[in-house]
Amino acid sequence: MRITMIGSGYVGLVSGTCFADFGHDVICVDKDEAKIRALEEGKIPIFEPGLDAIVAQNRRSGRLTFTTDLSSGLTEADVVFIAVGTPSRRGDGHADLSYVYAAAREIALGVKGFTVVVTKSTVPVGTGDEIERIMRETNPEADIAVVSNPEFLREGAAIEDFRRPDRIVVGLSDERAREVMEEVYRPLYLNRSPLLFTTRRTSELIKYAGNAFLAMKITFINEMADLCESVGADVQEVARGIGLDNRIGSKFLHAGPGYGGSCFPKDTLALVKTAQDHGSPVRLIETTVAINDTRKRAMARKVIAAFGGDVRGKTIAILGLTFKPNTDDMRDSPAISIIQALRDAGAQVSAYDPEGIENARPMLEGVTFGTGPYDIAEGADALVIVTEWNAFRALDFRRLAGVMRTPLLVDLRNVYSRDEVAPYGFGYLGIGRPL
Ligand code: UGA
Repeated sequence: MRITMIGSGYVGLVSGTCFADFGHDVICVDKDEAKIRALEEGKIPIFEPGLDAIVAQNRRSGRLTFTTDLSSGLTEADVVFIAVGTPSRRGDGHADLSYVYAAAREIALGVKGFTVVVTKSTVPVGTGDEIERIMRETNPEADIAVVSNPEFLREGAAIEDFRRPDRIVVGLSDERAREVMEEVYRPLYLNRSPLLFTTRRTSELIKYAGNAFLAMKITFINEMADLCESVGADVQEVARGIGLDNRIGSKFLHAGPGYGGSCFPKDTLALVKTAQDHGSPVRLIETTVAINDTRKRAMARKVIAAFGGDVRGKTIAILGLTFKPNTDDMRDSPAISIIQALRDAGAQVSAYDPEGIENARPMLEGVTFGTGPYDIAEGADALVIVTEWNAFRALDFRRLAGVMRTPLLVDLRNVYSRDEVAPYGFGYLGIGRPL
């Protein structure tokens, strides 16, 4: 298959590369010249473990190319994927579809012969209908079928998720498009990944329903964690105790500082808006959004409370800035609100992250960035783990106790326990654990 991928951001670059790796011929397009130039030189603009090697290999084989010129990638294409961003629109929280619709117009003018146009971007229900309308209006001659094929990969585990998905969801009504999509996903299909064909609208909703459910599951365990703190129970044991019930499942039950990232916050909000527009509000998700928003600053209050409500003159060291480990992505990371709240309360903040500092720097004014855990802990009154990078899982507490002014660990990811750190003179505050 000849595939054109419009948008070389996270989803576009990972899926385009993996499709080339399946043996398809892939052209990745992006308007950002600097990004395309970098990719042509083998430089990967995002941090994703393993991606650089697969890009290099497929570039060498000639199956993966990069360009800023969309028209050159359209005439020969069997399938054109739209993987451009759908950020939250300023002011109202709806998904901003302007990049998607602009791509649709360009595709309509450039394609030759039967072409399947697939939305991989996360788009609200009904977007496929609008794309089809725009394309037919732009070029009534174009022989196209518009398909929905949402992506479920996680940052930091994107390649593994793409190669071994729990399922592939495809929404369409055109038989020719179905055959093309079966061919595109043949290697995964042979691998027994379930390929679920449904209607376009259902497919679009599956993506939002999936992310909203996961966000709700995290928020549920976060509220249970607060309750555990009040009643003297342990949230990790509650999570294990309920997670062993197969109907509930053990994944996404790690209590923490609230979900962040480029997907859950934006997608839950967009689902809330779509549902309200259709007069069918999703109140569970409305509440999930509200709880998660307040949780981040509540985490800062937890730290402040440990100092009797006053952190003026105190130095707080923050370990981990990205919204989760194995990414350099700072979008909607809980660390941003936590640090802002600590600074508003008068604390000095020092911080370290293995990959996120460059992206964090412009967002976090007044923060001192260090070179590692022991560096930022120097003279600090508390060490706060916000992101559970593996590099923070074997800290030397003897050494930390030696350099900190007050040895206090606030562990917002429950990486350690009181028993592990107490022998070194550390005070310990976790999430949802008996005090
Ligand atoms: C999420 C979904 O997991 C993917 O399936 C989906 O494709 C993607 O959004 C998307 O729509 O593109 P991602 O945002 O990369 O993937 O990250 P997750 O691993 O899902 O984590 C999201 C947030 O939830 C992080 O802040 C993480 O720390 C938090 N989380 C996750 C918890 O606090 N507890 C958990 O048990 C799990």
